[in-house]
Amino acid sequence: MKEAYKELLQHAHRAKENAHAPYSGFKVGAAIFTKDGSVIEGCNVENVAYGSTMCAERVAIYKAVSMGYKPGDFDAIAIASTGKNFSPCGSCRQVINEFGVDIDIIFEWEEKIVTESAKSMLPYNFVSRDNTP
Ligand code: THU
Repeated sequence: MKEAYKELLQHAHRAKENAHAPYSGFKVGAAIFTKDGSVIEGCNVENVAYGSTMCAERVAIYKAVSMGYKPGDFDAIAIASTGKNFSPCGSCRQVINEFGVDIDIIFEWEEKIVTESAKSMLPYNFVSRDNTP
């Protein structure tokens, strides 16, 4: 486990404190480590129209894209929640793959820190034209 990834997970834990999660009570934080050395955080943002809710991972990625980052610019994304054994939902895995099949996804599972590539978290992935499967 890279030291930088442990730190990234701490960023994700901090980011979850900003979650707007009054309906589920389940706070999630995400932190992206970019190849140029920046950390970009996101949290889940819920809505009374439940389907309008957005996951923390996608908030972080869309925030990064709005700042000018492109596919291939991300090294890793760490995710943390108020629950145990949390890993990204299917929609977030799909979106992470769009920006790099080699992105490391870091999360806690059974008291351990797990690192898995975006591709391994979405076997037989449907990828963007910008990535090699
Ligand atoms: N959630 C995330 O932020 N990321 C995921 O990968 C799955 C779920 C959020 C959405 C909702 O606000 C709460 O967790 C409960 O589903």
